[in-house]
Amino acid sequence: MSQHKTPLFDTVFNHAKNRVVSFHTPGHKNGRGVDKRLRSFTGRNMYFMDVTVFPEVDSLHDPQGPIKKAQQLMARAYGVEHSFFLVNGSSVGNMIMLMSACQPGDSVIISRNAHKSAMSGIILSGVWPIWVQPKVDQNLDILFDSSPTQIEEALRKYPEAKAVFVTSPTYTGVTTDLVKIAEICHSRGKVLLVDEAHGPHLKFHKDLPVSAVEAGADMCVQSTHKILSALSQGSVVHFQSDLVDLTRLRRMVSLLQTTSPNYIILASMDLARRQAVLHGESMLGRVIRCGEKGRKRINALKNFFCFTRKDIADRGYDLDVTKLTINVTKTGLSGYEVEDILTKEYKIQVDAADLFNLIAIMGIGSDKSDVDKLVSALEEIDEKYRGAAQNWVLQIPELTTEMVMVPRDVSLLYTSKRVPLRKAVGHISAQTLTPYPPGIPVLIPGERITQEIVEYLEDLTEKDIRVVGQEGEALRTIKVVTVR
Ligand SMILES: Cc1ncc(COP(=O)(O)O)c(C=O)c1O
Repeated sequence: MSQHKTPLFDTVFNHAKNRVVSFHTPGHKNGRGVDKRLRSFTGRNMYFMDVTVFPEVDSLHDPQGPIKKAQQLMARAYGVEHSFFLVNGSSVGNMIMLMSACQPGDSVIISRNAHKSAMSGIILSGVWPIWVQPKVDQNLDILFDSSPTQIEEALRKYPEAKAVFVTSPTYTGVTTDLVKIAEICHSRGKVLLVDEAHGPHLKFHKDLPVSAVEAGADMCVQSTHKILSALSQGSVVHFQSDLVDLTRLRRMVSLLQTTSPNYIILASMDLARRQAVLHGESMLGRVIRCGEKGRKRINALKNFFCFTRKDIADRGYDLDVTKLTINVTKTGLSGYEVEDILTKEYKIQVDAADLFNLIAIMGIGSDKSDVDKLVSALEEIDEKYRGAAQNWVLQIPELTTEMVMVPRDVSLLYTSKRVPLRKAVGHISAQTLTPYPPGIPVLIPGERITQEIVEYLEDLTEKDIRVVGQEGEALRTIKVVTVR
């Protein structure tokens, strides 16, 4: 079938145009029951597309018609054996990958800065995580995911690992050398899983880094909604593996997804794929050029800088230049403060901020005027605002951690209680504690709490550093495992 076709969108769209009387879910009945404030803003047409599973529109759980065809077109577009549509983002994709590649008790090599959904996947699949510490770059104030050397070393130390899980690109658009990592994994019979949530577009432009499917990953997940034009939650898991059982993957895709998928999201995946194949090169080319011009102008400012592809290449990685990571440390303001100014004074919303950086994500719909607005706002902020100089340094503490219980058992088999920080030494953590910066967990469910870790956490509390996972205003207690 031609990539010009959009079988799923066409089916849902034609159904909507038919104005069929609804005696199926959802309850708004083609929009009639939707609150007026929403309906008067959106118009009514869209609600005729909000349908449920019936023969005409096919089932996500046993696709035989337009969903099957749309998934086949997606697979062909990326050059993989199979692609599965997901309606709960790459979050559910990460869970699906771990649950299909691994059995309970297997171990997986994974970087400690993986997205929180990878931790959910670790809990649900019952695997032992073997953590690789990300590398910190104190000049760029960012973290790097695992390099081939780190993966090789981890596999030498833990040859029993079943799989390697890598995040590429990271949130800042940095990609690792997946070609080398795939070689390392496959020469040892290990499965390579890639969280490519931020990279659904890489395959469609020659000036973007190599994508996971081109590098030979066994499976990868992509948030089609993050950079391409699918609606939020629309993601995909791609499969091309001799090491993973396809039937098991199918089962996990079904096990973890709703029986009432949103057909507008599904239809938008079909359109996003067609658009990427037919127009990706030109549309992404425009985005890349706008981004690079914006980067140049930002780098001409006194107090902001935006690292380049060359900066990243010098460090052995590659960069998706459609991501603008804007370092703010020279302004004396934190990234959070600049984000706030951009939102309130300029009506510009970036995707994320931390102490050091703003992360401005461009997508297939970005245009020059958006970039111009962002750069002009930064130019004004550069002149207008000056904060007290920051003395933050991005660093990862050198703490020894030891997993003594598999996270699934901590979460599903045992109960937990809160104990004061001081009294937690020797216990097993029942929670994740992640200070920002650097955004890497100090403790993970199943890890032994040592004196050294408690002292580090006390020090953070004294410095008023917020730890995600703390129970209130300050970190005074930790959840630990208790025997039922
Ligand atoms: C690296 C990474 N992986 C996975 C996810 C989850 O993706 P989604 O929002 O599509 O569920 C995110 C979300 O921001 C992410 O940054």
